[in-house]
Amino acid sequence: MPLPHHVSHLVRTAALLESRADRYADYLVEVLRPRGWTLALEQWGREEATHGASLRAWLAEHEAGFEFAACMERYAALPYHDAPHRGGPLRVIDGDDSSCGVYGSAQGELVARCVVEAMAAAYYQALAAAAVDVPSLHQLCRRHAADEARHFSLFARMLAAVRHDEGTRRGEALAVMLRRLAALNDAQIVYASYVAGGSRGAFDLRVEGRRYRAMVLRVFGRRQVRFVGTLLARVLTAPEPRRRALAFALA
Ligand SMILES: [Fe+2]
Ligand SMILES: [Fe+2]
Repeated sequence: MPLPHHVSHLVRTAALLESRADRYADYLVEVLRPRGWTLALEQWGREEATHGASLRAWLAEHEAGFEFAACMERYAALPYHDAPHRGGPLRVIDGDDSSCGVYGSAQGELVARCVVEAMAAAYYQALAAAAVDVPSLHQLCRRHAADEARHFSLFARMLAAVRHDEGTRRGEALAVMLRRLAALNDAQIVYASYVAGGSRGAFDLRVEGRRYRAMVLRVFGRRQVRFVGTLLARVLTAPEPRRRALAFALA
C-alpha cells in the first residue's frame, strides 16, 4: 500500500532533521564537560546519527524519487540555530560547573533536551501508527521512538544530578520548556519541511510552518499528546533528587 503523502513528507523531513542532529552532541559535550558525561553524550550523538542514516536508507530503497543529497545540500545552507554559540568559545562561570550555552545553564540545556527527546519520541510513535500498513517503516519508527524515549530518560537523570547539586530551578525549567516548544516553529524545522517538499518558491516561514503543522497534526493523536504532557510534567514536578538514588541512576 502506498504511503500517504503527508506521512511520506514527515519521514523526509525527519531524515533531514536527524541528519543534522548529531551536530548538537559536540555542543552539549562542551556545555556539560565539567560533569564528565562526555562518553554518554558522544554515544547519544552517535545514536542520533544512526536515526538519520536509517531514514535515508529507507527512503533510498522505497522512495527513489526523493533526492536526499540535493535536499540536504539546500538544507545545510541554512545556519544551524545554535551557530552563534558554536563558533566561539562557550562561557563557563568561574568556580561553578555550570556552562552557559543556548539556554543559559546546565539545567536549562538539559530541560531543553528533555523537551526535544519527548517530542521526538512522540513524533516517531505517531509516524509508526500512521505507517502501520508499511511494516518496514512501522518497525523503523518504533525503534526510533524507543531510542528517543531512552534519550529522554538519560537527560532526565542528568538533570536530576545537576538539580541535586544546584537545587531545582522550576521557574527556569518552565521558561526553557516554553522557549523550546516555541522553537518548534523556528526556521530550522520548518525549512527542513519546505526542502523535503521540493519547494522552489520563496520561503515563507508562516506559510510553510502552517503547512508543516497541519501535516504533523494529521498523525498526532491523543496518545502522543498525553505522552509528551506526562514526560514534561515529570520534568517540572520531579521532587528534589537524593544522592543515593542518583548514584544508582547514573551508574
Ligand atoms: Fe533521533
Ligand atoms: Fe534522541
